[in-house]
Amino acid sequence: KILILDFGSQVTQLIARRVREQQVYCELHPFDVSDQFVRDFKPAGIILSGGPNSVYEALEWKAPQAVFELGVPVLGICYGMQTMAQQLGGKVESSGKREFGYAEIRARGHSELFKGLQDRTNDEGHGLLDVWMSHGDKVTELPAGFKVIASTESCPVAAMADETRKFYAVQFHPEVTHTLKGKEMIARFVHEICGCGHDWNMPDYVNEAIEKVRAQVGKEEVILGLSGGVDSSVVAALLHRAIGDQLTCVFVDNGLLRLNEAEQVMQTFARNLGVKVIHVDATAQFMGHLAGVSDPEQKRKIIGREFVEVFQAEAKKLPNAKWLAQGTIYPDVIESAGAKTGKAHAIKSHHNVGGLPETLNLKLLEPLRELFKDEVRELGIALGLPHEMVYRHPFPGPGLGVRILGEVKKEFADLLRRADAIFIDELRAADWYDKTSQAFAVFLPVKSVGVMGDGRTYEYVVALRAVQTQDFMTAHWAELPHSLLGKVSNRIINEVRGINRVVYDISGKPPATIEWE
Ligand code: XMP
Repeated sequence: KILILDFGSQVTQLIARRVREQQVYCELHPFDVSDQFVRDFKPAGIILSGGPNSVYEALEWKAPQAVFELGVPVLGICYGMQTMAQQLGGKVESSGKREFGYAEIRARGHSELFKGLQDRTNDEGHGLLDVWMSHGDKVTELPAGFKVIASTESCPVAAMADETRKFYAVQFHPEVTHTLKGKEMIARFVHEICGCGHDWNMPDYVNEAIEKVRAQVGKEEVILGLSGGVDSSVVAALLHRAIGDQLTCVFVDNGLLRLNEAEQVMQTFARNLGVKVIHVDATAQFMGHLAGVSDPEQKRKIIGREFVEVFQAEAKKLPNAKWLAQGTIYPDVIESAGAKTGKAHAIKSHHNVGGLPETLNLKLLEPLRELFKDEVRELGIALGLPHEMVYRHPFPGPGLGVRILGEVKKEFADLLRRADAIFIDELRAADWYDKTSQAFAVFLPVKSVGVMGDGRTYEYVVALRAVQTQDFMTAHWAELPHSLLGKVSNRIINEVRGINRVVYDISGKPPATIEWE
């Protein structure tokens, strides 16, 4: 396995994704882990990430000395290259000029890292590679034992290597797709240089994960809040496979779910898979507490609080349960080094089930802790969950509660559910569902005038929202074909009595958010 030490770059997680794509297991940890930690990890190789700092300013931002003493290959990327150079006796200086964006590097000598890789050659037959650079400092003096393996016009040491010790370092970012041969470089590092096999694959992982759960919980009982979302669904399928009836799922219908969602969850899990699912219809309770409340944050709080309430009441009925399972995934777990500088986002943990564990006195079971989202999806497929469920758009915890602007009423939720289902139906039919990251309808509690047949109508408005995004932090509105929008609008106005106008949201994030509340 590969150890990745994070110096706070925004793209460190991508390094982990690239390594895992090579079917090599890796973990991401902050750069300041102890020497002992590095030794105990027993890595086959170590990767030092990029980061926002300067080595001559942030003196304490160094790799543990053990990294260079273990006798395993090391790959330094950007800041990781600079700290490697400095820690091994080379010199790093500000280049005066920031290099940012595409660069063409010329590979030099024969390095194991770039062997056989080139995007094209120059007149003298030297291999050229397109890479993505982002740095202000550069290595000006090589540490002993190193030689230059790539350079650009403005950066004579764009990559360096000590082939004897198998230390490699690159000033550019091989983990981003803009570096055309980046994937191959990572592949060469983990397979050829570190000697890792292709051991990390889903079919094997399923069995491993099942064994691990069995060893962890033994004969004890487990309780899981099943929402119908991807993560909790995959946890349910995995635990059911591992421990069968020792698992009880609690599915809370808060009255703010999508059309037929409760039936679908019961069909997939209870009837098809034979999972024990307690279906609690708490619509009345949620609606009761939401009556008269129109502030978005207040609504979120109420929905969260009532969920805990309902879940707890159900958990009390299962006195033998010793474990609470959660769909925490790897991005939730990673303690980003950037968090220490305040540069990257703060640490999130257990964001799925706020406040549950402490009050319930249950041990936490988080079988997806090691997985990235797309790996969770692969696992879901390997466990036999329907494609539609595993590749579903995300749905917020407060559900339609934040898609009905202002006060939430059951009547509004019923209208919105039907409009939303039509939109999603048509997106799927037009092959647009998988091309959007999230799509839904929003209920606007304002009435506008329309005409239908010979009569005047005075009814509510629905807004359609569809976005494309990688990480949901920024998003573009989806340029859906007008004919598709027209069809959706027609169907909603004709089929959903109470809606006489449909609009399309063309706001990006930022400055708008994806949800309307
Ligand atoms: P925004 O609206 O902030 O949404 O651009 C970004 C992503 O987060 C989801 N979202 C939520 N998910 N509880 C959740 O579990 C919430 O309160 C919540 N608010 C927004 C949203 O659906 C989108 O995918």
